[in-house]
Amino acid sequence: MARISAGVGCSHVPAIGAAIDGGKVSDAYWAPLFKGFEHSKRWIAEEAPDVVILVYNDHATAFSLEMIPTFALGTAERFPPADEGWGPRPVPVVEGAPDLAWHIAQSLILDEFDITIVNRMDVDHGLTVPMSLMFGQPSAWPVKVIPLAVNVVQYPPPTGHRCFALGRALARAVASFDEDLNVQIWGTGGMSHQLQGPRAGLINRDYDVAFLDALTADPLSLTQRPHLDYIRYAGSEGVELVMWLVMLGALGEGARELYRFYHVPASNTAVGHIILRAGDKVSPGTS
Ligand SMILES: [Fe+2]
Repeated sequence: MARISAGVGCSHVPAIGAAIDGGKVSDAYWAPLFKGFEHSKRWIAEEAPDVVILVYNDHATAFSLEMIPTFALGTAERFPPADEGWGPRPVPVVEGAPDLAWHIAQSLILDEFDITIVNRMDVDHGLTVPMSLMFGQPSAWPVKVIPLAVNVVQYPPPTGHRCFALGRALARAVASFDEDLNVQIWGTGGMSHQLQGPRAGLINRDYDVAFLDALTADPLSLTQRPHLDYIRYAGSEGVELVMWLVMLGALGEGARELYRFYHVPASNTAVGHIILRAGDKVSPGTS
């Protein structure tokens, strides 16, 4: 039986990818950030997950204003790195896990979660930057990935409550897959940042740290947090944090923190990172 063993929360700032690809990880500006992921790289090498369900948002790369799926599940065999204007990042092609992905699609939809199925998709920095932070620069990624894209770019994004419920449905889907797989769930995006307007560059450390605390101390409180809270206190792009609630829901009850790291600044954002061990219980009911 497949199982979700752990969750990883991680910002996906594009400038981090540019720093890695440009050989700047040892520069004074970037070194403290990458140091914070050294433990995580060792940890994930020991955990050796078979599959990562990677929750992220597409930044008008694979999708556009012509087509805006709220939740989109990648069922392809591979996902090439996207060209975001400067050519594709020099990272390996992401290998999918179509058997599990199609099982998840079936389970979610029969569980009344009407997800969009995507058989062809290039993946942008939202997915590849967390991969680089956790795995470095291998010639091939050591894990298969099921991309799960969430719309947090164009209003209206899904509520945190809905994201959490999706996570619970994902856990049920994985638990009913008849193959012995070690599966991780990652939530990416955030933390506080705003890219435009008079508040551009907004960083709210207290808000970010309180969010990291609440993931284990009071997870259900996060499901009630309205979008305006994120936007008001964490900046307009801070709303990306709702994607971490998909991860949280998938970890079941009693998830516990194994590691965290918080760093300011990376470009004009705060970087947050957490590793959570899954709880024991998978929610039995719908949502
Ligand atoms: Fe993003």
